Amino acid sequence: MSDTLDVRLFGQLIAQVGIEGDYRSPEEWRFQYRPDYLASTQPIPLSVTLPLQDEPFAGAVIANWFGNLLPEGAVRETIERRLRLPPRDNFALLVAIGGECAGAVSVGPEAGSPEPGQKMESDLETLIREQGNDVGDGAWAALGSPRRLSLAGAQDKIAVIRMADGRLTLPAIGEPSTHILKPESRRLPGLRDLEALGLRLARTIGLNAVQVRLVRVGDRRALLVERYDRTHEDGKPTSRLHQEDFCQALGYPAELKYESLGGPSLARCADLIRNRMRLGPNALQQFLDWVAYSVIIGNADAHAKNLSLLYTPEGGRQLAPCYDLVPILTLPESMVDREPALRIGIARRIDAVTRSDWQSFAMATGYAPRFVLERVATLAHAVAASIGSVSDQLVSEGADAKRLEAAVFAISGNADRVLRQCERMDQG
Ligand SMILES: Nc1ncnc2c1ncn2[C@@H]1O[C@H](COP(=O)(O)OP(=O)(O)OP(=O)(O)O)[C@@H](O)[C@H]1O
Ligand SMILES: [Mg+2]
Repeated sequence: MSDTLDVRLFGQLIAQVGIEGDYRSPEEWRFQYRPDYLASTQPIPLSVTLPLQDEPFAGAVIANWFGNLLPEGAVRETIERRLRLPPRDNFALLVAIGGECAGAVSVGPEAGSPEPGQKMESDLETLIREQGNDVGDGAWAALGSPRRLSLAGAQDKIAVIRMADGRLTLPAIGEPSTHILKPESRRLPGLRDLEALGLRLARTIGLNAVQVRLVRVGDRRALLVERYDRTHEDGKPTSRLHQEDFCQALGYPAELKYESLGGPSLARCADLIRNRMRLGPNALQQFLDWVAYSVIIGNADAHAKNLSLLYTPEGGRQLAPCYDLVPILTLPESMVDREPALRIGIARRIDAVTRSDWQSFAMATGYAPRFVLERVATLAHAVAASIGSVSDQLVSEGADAKRLEAAVFAISGNADRVLRQCERMDQG
């Protein structure tokens, strides 16, 4: 391989990824597990799409998997500009920022201490102050580039450590972060509070969802999300868990996270959980709840990168907790698309899913239709019952009261509509 990088999982050297040739095209990517890793006591595959084998892998399956570790859209462009990288070159971006990716994956030179004499400021407030008025999309993600931090997604974000006194710092090279920090969106003001509502409400009604806090950093509102890909002892994160999202696990590039663009369907996601991975009843329940809850709160953006698998070093496998649950429905229709990211029956809008769409969804994904309708109704009841108090709680923590009042009104109305679809008398 002409250009090769080490791949580490849980800190262990497991493979090499490289690119051969001059065109940076998906066909040129290569990946090979190391023989010593394959011979070790308990090797686990990096991905469902990269089973343990001696022979090298070549082509798009690798380009897609590694490309999914990288930031998207305007955030990515900001980092590319700051680091003077060629645009849209996933390999170059991986070389630059792949040192600390989601889960337990690290790509490139081994993490170590900074060069002698190179002092890196780690206090986030200070770094943001020093950055001055640069508030473009990706400004916070760019703060992590010198430490080679990479997180996927279209929104700006940075991996941080929350200290016991609440102060936020950037991890030293190789140190695991504890939280993901997402600043308020410039393009969609109010998004932070809406994501907080979506996630807090999910936990309140008993779904397995990440824990969030509303914070201010500098003069900016932000959402502090606790990482689920860490193990904890005495409340302190001790080590990393590995994760891959459903684009990675199903072999799609990040650009195809929406089904309408050619990406995976809910049927394919369910098939992975039910038949290929055999994750069992808890995972199947969680997957159904993720779809049902997304429809109830109007989260049209529940795409294949917003669903992940979580792996322990010992080979344990489960669905990651729900994250990135945003009631898009409550944002102006001119700003965001309401078409469900993954199709549910033939519904063209997230607020127009009918009883018959639920039945089609059940048939396509292998659930009993009556079970689906009952579960959707149960969750819609729970949302209607709890949304008021969750919203009050968030307002007392600093959320915008007017924004949340409007969101509560819209979501309650939608939950009511969903309920009527499920509880129609002509059961079928
Ligand atoms: N709490 C968490 N712990 C660990 N990893 C997470 C957590 N939340 C998100 N991730 C990982 O980071 C990625 C990006 O996060 P998230 O979906 O919140 O970002 P986003 O920019 O809002 O996404 P989108 O592009 O869907 O708008 C996820 O796909 C997931 O792999
Ligand atoms: Mg996301």
